[in-house]
Amino acid sequence: MKCISIFLSAVFLLAFTHRCQPGINEEKKISTISRALIPQPVRTEYASGHFTITENTGMFCPAKLEETAAIAARQLGIIKKVNTGRKRKGIFLAIDTSLHREGYRLKVQRGKIEITGGSNAGVFYALQTLHQLSGSEGLPSKVPCIAICDYPRFSWRGLMLDCSRTFQSPEYLKKTIDRIAFYKMNVLHLHLTDDQGWRLEIKSRSVLAEKGAKFHPEYNEPERHQGFYSQEEMRDIVQYAGSKGITIVPEIEMSGHSTAVLVCYPELSCTGEIVDKIFPFFKGPSVTPDILCAGNEETFALIEDVIDEIVEIFPSEFIHIGGDEAPKARWEKCPKCQKRIKDEGLSDERELQSYFIRRVERYLRSKGRRLIGWSEIIEGGLAPNAAVMDWIGGAKEATEKGQDVVMSPTRYCYFDYPYASIDSEHAYRFDPVKDLSQGPSEHILGLQANFWSHIDREPELVDKQLFPRLLSIAERGWSPSGSTDWDSFRNRLEKHLAILRLMGVNYYQADVAESAR
Ligand code: ACM
Ligand code: ZN
Repeated sequence: MKCISIFLSAVFLLAFTHRCQPGINEEKKISTISRALIPQPVRTEYASGHFTITENTGMFCPAKLEETAAIAARQLGIIKKVNTGRKRKGIFLAIDTSLHREGYRLKVQRGKIEITGGSNAGVFYALQTLHQLSGSEGLPSKVPCIAICDYPRFSWRGLMLDCSRTFQSPEYLKKTIDRIAFYKMNVLHLHLTDDQGWRLEIKSRSVLAEKGAKFHPEYNEPERHQGFYSQEEMRDIVQYAGSKGITIVPEIEMSGHSTAVLVCYPELSCTGEIVDKIFPFFKGPSVTPDILCAGNEETFALIEDVIDEIVEIFPSEFIHIGGDEAPKARWEKCPKCQKRIKDEGLSDERELQSYFIRRVERYLRSKGRRLIGWSEIIEGGLAPNAAVMDWIGGAKEATEKGQDVVMSPTRYCYFDYPYASIDSEHAYRFDPVKDLSQGPSEHILGLQANFWSHIDREPELVDKQLFPRLLSIAERGWSPSGSTDWDSFRNRLEKHLAILRLMGVNYYQADVAESAR
């Protein structure tokens, strides 16, 4: 918002227009490309003329932007080394902390391109916009003279990948990071544990990854569907994501969906019976009755050991603790759980669930982190400071209490669902604050698409489930609330199909027809 004034300057606009005068054909090519920005920026002023980016275009920046600049130079195809010196021609990067942290100003003139971001992330996003403006045909590339002022509508623009039902390779995670960063999404939530596998090395509890990451041999699951990330691999992914403005939010599921944990620690179930099989999703129940015992102190000792290592790997403010689909049948019959209910003065198993979450929330808070969990963490009373990821409701209740919410309702955001129920247009119609009044709506942090990996398991199929409809979510997360024109989006989306192809994305072709180019 603070940068809007630059657009109101008639002097600037006159000078801007005057300096750039291209030929008719150039204008035509540029205008085709220049309308295809996703997400739509807050404010764009086109002028005539262009800046030609070549392999030898210089990129100049202060030292702290060198990594961001080097990433963008590689993306654009610039081979000249990023330079921290002062020059007159080229692409100039700067930070102005008075701007929105993820916001930026981008001014393309004939002799130079000036980018100012509120932080490295803002500069990175400006460079993604520049990359989109430069088109998909490689260098040299003519970028239209333009002035853009941009910042996101929401602070959480996420994608969840389920790495438990099917292990997703570090290479695929990095590819996904590249793709979502290009569309200014900023959260990659990794569902790291579930009934089908524990996917992260925990050094103090090495059995979790050694035993909990493997399907039982009787199922003959391919090696590529199982395994775990070493801490070193995960640190590398976190760093890679961070360099592109993306926070990795880890999810360690509790108290349900815990077969992989119970295979390693059967004594932490309410019955204590040996659980010996990690089963592929369709070879067992989708929700198992066996969950972590809330009456056993060892359950919390394990969780705290895991959190101690998690917070060392992931700098994310939020740590996701799952909390969904935890059936209470075992707790109802368990003497330890019943004793806990009595000792803590709880009225029932729903309040025991709340006790469980509150206890974990307190521990996370002692580590300077915030808890986020699925809708069900509201049951029995929501822990203070906890945020809710709404997949089946809870947003209204939580935001009215002043608590934060990320919207990921099944109806719009479940991208394991077929395109017949959620196509790009349907996803584009999602407004995360639609049913909320002003005060509560301020507690909507943003939105997130979720991909569960039980049906489509190979990277090409995951691509197909995500793209192109993920671009709808990217725009709804970034662009102003008034950017709701499907025809405009569809037009831009069609042009992006070529870019997706160049990025190697196996997008779903029947969703949006590609118009003749
Ligand atoms: C969920 O889809 N069970 C969060
Ligand atoms: Zn129990």
